[in-house]
Amino acid sequence: MGFESSDDAAIYRIDDKIAVIHTLDLFPPVVDDPYLYGQIAAANALSDVYAMGGTPKLALNILCYPEDLDGETIKSILQGGYDKVREADAVIAGGHTLKDNEPKYGLSVIGFVHPDQILTNSNSKAGDLLILTKPLGTGILNTAMKANLIKKETENAIISSMAELNKKAYQIMSNYKVNACTDITGFGILGHSYEMAASSGVTICLNTNSLPLHPEVRDMAKMGIIPAGAYTNRNFLEGKVKADPSVALELLDIMYDPQTSGGLLISIPEKDAYRLLNDLKAEIACSEIVGEVIPLDDYPIIVK
Ligand code: CO
Ligand code: CO
Ligand code: CO
Repeated sequence: MGFESSDDAAIYRIDDKIAVIHTLDLFPPVVDDPYLYGQIAAANALSDVYAMGGTPKLALNILCYPEDLDGETIKSILQGGYDKVREADAVIAGGHTLKDNEPKYGLSVIGFVHPDQILTNSNSKAGDLLILTKPLGTGILNTAMKANLIKKETENAIISSMAELNKKAYQIMSNYKVNACTDITGFGILGHSYEMAASSGVTICLNTNSLPLHPEVRDMAKMGIIPAGAYTNRNFLEGKVKADPSVALELLDIMYDPQTSGGLLISIPEKDAYRLLNDLKAEIACSEIVGEVIPLDDYPIIVK
């Protein structure tokens, strides 16, 4: 992939059978528990390989930590990452650490993909439907969690969702002829949909009635518990999103909300979309058809 496209990872074609996917992601702690943090950071980094249709093979740790962070905490973060990489059937082969005031952890991942099966975000076509495989709202709910505003069950739900690999979704999707795919992370569903629409030259219509949402996220959004990143996303997308006046404001906030280790957004021709959805639902109950792709309109993104 060239630098002009805004894809999830770099691709290097070795020969007719193998292309290498290379990606790097790291971020500061999103939860207090270091083991869970390690799992979430690793699931997030591995996700870009799945989003491009590949399987992770090799990962390197990247860890920044303050001088005074204790050894047990560091071990737990790395153990979380190690366990997720194993679950992905890949291996961790070392890594790099450096001192920094705020901890940050993530992985650089190498995956393999058959050159004919590379998925990008730039081949979405009019007539496709869009399927999302994880609920939205982790940015808002992480903010609410820090202020102790949400139930323990909701905390557990978002933590397990963030730590969940997109492996199963990728495996099910790979049985189908998918046109485009990306994972939903820091730019929120609107930002990542915009990237897909802009690079594919189409308009994406998202239907707010069918968005899978984490529990309590609407209430928190209504209360104004919105992370700064959501405002950054909104500013970036100024003039690119046409929202029907009937759409509740808190739903728009949720759509701008930056996601941590979110689901896959899959663009697939309508004739196969319902079969794929059924297959996904059997394993990932929250999967939903969240929108459709139409020929390029006045706006790249329409929200109804
Ligand atoms: Co990505
Ligand atoms: Co990424
Ligand atoms: Co992609």
